[in-house]
Amino acid sequence: MTADANSKTANTMWGGRFAEGPHAIMTAINASIGFDQRLYAQDIAGSRAHAAMLAAQGIITDSDAKAIGEGLLAILSEIERGEFPFTPALEDIHLNIEARLTERIGEAGKRLHTGRSRNDQVAVDFRLWVRDQCDAAIQGLTALMQAFLAQASAGADWVMPGFTHLQTAQPVTWGHHMLAYVEMLARDRSRFEDARKRMNECPLGAAALAGTSFPIDRHATAKALGFDRPTANSLDSVSDRDFALEFLSASSICAMHLSRFAEELVIWSSAQFRFVRLSDRWTTGSSIMPQKKNPDAAELLRAKLGRILGATVALFTVMKGLALTYSKDMQEDKEQVFDAADTLMLALAAMTGMVGDMTANRDTLKAAAASGFSTATDLADWLVRALGLPFREAHHVTGTLVAMAEGKKCDLPDLTLADMQTVHPGIRVDVFDVLGVENSVRSRMSYGGTAPDQVRAQVARWSDLLK
Ligand code: ARG
Repeated sequence: MTADANSKTANTMWGGRFAEGPHAIMTAINASIGFDQRLYAQDIAGSRAHAAMLAAQGIITDSDAKAIGEGLLAILSEIERGEFPFTPALEDIHLNIEARLTERIGEAGKRLHTGRSRNDQVAVDFRLWVRDQCDAAIQGLTALMQAFLAQASAGADWVMPGFTHLQTAQPVTWGHHMLAYVEMLARDRSRFEDARKRMNECPLGAAALAGTSFPIDRHATAKALGFDRPTANSLDSVSDRDFALEFLSASSICAMHLSRFAEELVIWSSAQFRFVRLSDRWTTGSSIMPQKKNPDAAELLRAKLGRILGATVALFTVMKGLALTYSKDMQEDKEQVFDAADTLMLALAAMTGMVGDMTANRDTLKAAAASGFSTATDLADWLVRALGLPFREAHHVTGTLVAMAEGKKCDLPDLTLADMQTVHPGIRVDVFDVLGVENSVRSRMSYGGTAPDQVRAQVARWSDLLK
C-alpha cells in the first residue's frame, strides 16, 4: 500500500481538527467494527437508556428523544436483517450506529452523544455482553451438573477402581466419581454468579473519564439497564476491565475441570480400559482403520482450555501496566472474550451431551475394582481393628501379603488363610469379609466418603439444589 492510500476526507465524527483522513493501514489497525459489531444490541440498549434519561433531565427535548429511540429501533432491525452498512472508516459499533442514526433522523441524532463518551459507552456495552455470558455459563453449568447427577443417581453403588497416580488405589463407587464433578461444576457456577454480582454496576455517565457537567441521572440509566447501581468512580469506570478478566478466569477454571473429565473419557473409552461406551453421536471413525471409534469430542474438550486460558493471559497482558484511564490498548479486550465465551458455551454443551449419552460398563468396572490389590487398605485397617496392631505395623504386614499375592500371581482375596497366617499368626478367617470390593465401599461411611449410602445422600441433596 502506498503512502497516498489515504482517505481524502477526515472522520466525520471527530475530524474537525484534521486536515486529511487516515492512511488505509491506519484505518485497518484502528477499526474494531469487524468484531465489535457483536455488541450492537447492547450498544442500542445503552443509547436508548441514555437518550430517555437526557430527555427526562431536560437536556434534550422529548421529541428528539422519541426520534432517537425510534431511529435506534429501526437500526436494530436493520442490523438483524443483515442490511446494515458496516463501515471500517467509522471505526467501531458506536460510531457506525450513531452515524447511521443521524443519516436516518437528521439533527436529533447528533444530540445523542451529549454527556457521554465512547469510553463509558464501550464500558457499558461490554459489561452488558459479559453479564449475559455469565448467565449463559450458569445455565450451561446447571445442565451439565444435571447430566452428571443422573449418572450418579443410576450408579450410586456401582464399584470401580479409584486412582491416585493413575494407579489403582481403593475401590470407589461410580456415583461418587460422578458427584466429584458436580462439586467442581458447582464451584464453577458460583464463580460466575460472584463475578456477575460484582460487575453489575453501570459505568454509563462516567463520560470520557471525569464525569460530565450535564445534569445526568446515572441512577436512572443504571436501573433501566438492569444494573444494581452506577459505578462510584468515573476514572475507574472507563478503565476497569477486571469484570472481563473475572469472566475469563472463571471460564479457564471451568474449562480446566472439563479437560480433566475429557481426559478420563479418553482413557476410559479405550480398548484397554473399556470403563465406558461413548455413543456414536460423540465419536468419529477413521478413514483408514475400519474398527476405530475415536473420542474426538472428548479430545477437543481436553484441548479447549488452551484457547480459553490463552485469551485470559492475552487480556491480562494487555491490561498490565496501563496507566489510568482509557487507552486504545483496551480495544484488544473483545476478541479474546468473544472467542473464550463461544468456546466455553460450546464445550459445556458438548460435555453435557456426552455425559448424558455415555454408558458405564458395570462388569468391567467391577472387575477392575477388584484387581491391583485395591482392598489392601481395608486389610490394614482390619489388622488395626481386629488385632489391635498399630497402623504402621499393619501397613507393613499388608505390604508383605501384597508381595506374596504378587508372587503367586493372584489377588489378595485369593490367598488362603494359611498363607496369610505365615505372615501374621493372628489373622482369622473373617479377614475375608473386608477383602471384597462391595464391602470395601460400603465401609467408607465417613461424611463425603464413597459408601453407596453417602452417595445416595449427596444425590438427594443435589437433586434438591438443582430442582
Ligand atoms: N472501539 C473502542 C474500544 O473498543 C471504543 C472506545 C473508543 N474510545 C476512544 N476514545 N477512542 O475500546
